[in-house]
This record gives sequence, C-alpha cells and structure tokens, in this order.
Amino acid sequence: MRIVVVAVLLLCSAAAWAQTETGLAAGKATFRSNCAFCHGLTRGGGRRPALSSGRFVHGATPDDIKNVIRNGVPGTTMPSFEFASDELDELVAYVRSLSGSAPKAAPVAGDPVKGRQVYERSGCSGCHRIGMEGSVYGPELTRIGAGRSSEYLRESIVNPSADIPEEYAGVTVVTHDGQRITGVRINEDSFTVQLRDASQNFRMFQRNEVQQVIQETKSLMPPYSSLSKDDLQNLLAYLDSLRGDLKAGAGVKKAEGIR
Ligand code: HEC
Ligand code: HEC
Repeated sequence: MRIVVVAVLLLCSAAAWAQTETGLAAGKATFRSNCAFCHGLTRGGGRRPALSSGRFVHGATPDDIKNVIRNGVPGTTMPSFEFASDELDELVAYVRSLSGSAPKAAPVAGDPVKGRQVYERSGCSGCHRIGMEGSVYGPELTRIGAGRSSEYLRESIVNPSADIPEEYAGVTVVTHDGQRITGVRINEDSFTVQLRDASQNFRMFQRNEVQQVIQETKSLMPPYSSLSKDDLQNLLAYLDSLRGDLKAGAGVKKAEGIR
C-alpha cells in the first residue's frame, strides 16, 4: 500500500503534489507566517488585497502569481520573497485555492454611474484620491475594487472604525491654549508627535509644548450610515468598478502614471 502511494507521488509533478491536501496545508502554513499579516487570514482579506476575490490585477495564472511573490510589486508594500520551488508551488496552490472556494466574483449589483454621483456629493474626494483627483488624507481608492470584497467595502463605509489600517490611525494633539488638531499619525517618538492634518499639511509638535496627545480609537472617516439603500448599493458598484484602469471607473478622467 505504502509503495503504491510513493509511486503515485513520484508520478505526480511537484505542482500537482502541491494541490493535494497535505500540499495545501503546507501552503497555508507558509501563508500564515509570511502573508497573513497583510492579506489577512480570513477569506474576506485583511487590510491588503483579499486574495480570495478571484480577480488578480497582476494575473491569475500560477506563473503570474509566482512572479508577484518572487519580485514583489514595486511602489507598494508587497515585498519580494525567496522560497524554495516546492514551497512556492504549495503557496501558489494555496493562494489559488482561496479564490476557488470564495463567493463568486460577480460584478456588484447597482449602477456605478449613479454611484459616482453619490461619491461626489458625499464629499469622499475631500479625503480620498481616485486617479489624479482628490486628497490623500485617507487611502487612495484608484484600485480599491480590485482588492476588496463588497462586504469589506460596505463595512468601510457604514462602519469605518471596524477595521482601521495601522497607517491611518488617528491622533489628536491638544495644545496649551485648548486647540485640538486631529490627523493621521505619521510618527511619534519620546519628544515629538507628527501627523498629517485634514488639509494634508504635515504638522509636528514637541510633546513638552502640548497639553495632551490622544490616540484615536475611532476611524478618522465619519460613518456614512444614513445613505439610502440605493445610494449605498450604487456607491458600492462604483467602488467595485475601480480597478486601476480608469476607463472602468464609469467615465472618470483617465489619469496618467497610474498602473
Ligand atoms: C507588507 C505587506 C504584504 C505582505 C507581507 C505580503 N503582501 Fe502580497 N500584496 C501586498 C500589497 C499591498 C499588494 C497589492 C500590490 C498592488 O497594488 O498591486 C499585494 C499583492 C499581492 C498579489 C497580487 C494580487 C493581484 O491582484 O494580482 C499576490 C498574489 C500576493 N500579494 C501574494 C502574497 C503572498 C503569497 C505573500 C506571502 C508570501 C504576500 N503577498 C505577502 C502586500 C503584502
Ligand atoms: C474625513 C475624511 C474622510 C472622508 C470624508 C471619507 N473617508 Fe473614507 N477613509 C478615510 C480614512 C482616514 C480611512 C482609513 C481608515 C479607515 O479605514 O477607517 C478611510 C477608509 C476608507 C475605505 C477603506 C479603504 C481601504 O483600503 O481599506 C473606503 C473604501 C473608503 N474610506 C471610502 C469612502 C467613501 C466612499 C467616502 C464617501 C462616502 C469616504 N470614504 C469618505 C477618510 C475619509
């Protein structure tokens, strides 16, 4: 019996082996220790692209995914990794299995053109950038649809405090004359607090010159919980359409220099 198993394994290519249950378990273990920090352990994905949507901006074939893992994505926080080739096969098989069993990546219901109007009249661009337009106070949304499930997006809008990426944590400085300045925390050390305020100005304060420094536990983004059902659905459809190629953004001006 054992001999048969060994023979079968020898006949299988490494990639096919990676897709067996043991191979997937090994891939999952590698993923947990190297990737989950950014991509999340759950199918919904963490603060970085959920790899379970079945849509891969950089290509969905095993070779495409291997390329991304080996080389990283320059200009983003996606690092490059060196794995032994069998380890890499297992990892890629696991990553692909995430989308295989994920809910179907069907387009989100709703009208993206109307959703864009909701986006405009809700003041989202006061804090977010799409293509070349808007502010970088909050995360850029140019490619938000490529990496996020619609459930994640829905929650980001109605209950933004549910998941705040560390790099957008808020901090409030209270000066001696009682002024409060809130912004995205950029850096803190024993002597200073540095933040980016809502007008996108970089501000630095000496700790001994302020009354108080408060770490915000709530998101800097206000919850949009009173949007009508239709407005919310259309907004989700618009965000889902944002994949980096701005033609898909329902008439959004084509931006230069955005991959
Ligand atoms: C420090 C954070 C970080 C870590 C750690 C990380 N990634 Fe990424 N990863 C990213 C970001 C950010 C992107 C999106 C890059 C972009 O915008 O194109 C990405 C993109 C990807 C993509 C391409 C997705 C697509 O849409 O084509 C794959 C595949 C991927 N990562 C796999 C992995 C694997 C596997 C690991 C672990 C070995 C890993 N990543 C570890 C941040 C990370
Ligand atoms: C006052 C500034 C502000 C406004 C206005 C605002 N946001 Fe945000 N938004 C943020 C900040 C800061 C974050 C990051 C912290 C967080 O996730 O809560 C964020 C996060 C998000 C995310 C999650 C992004 C990611 O990568 O996980 C989405 C999606 C989003 N906002 C969409 C919107 C939409 C749509 C609107 C308008 C209806 C809007 N925001 C209005 C500041 C703002």
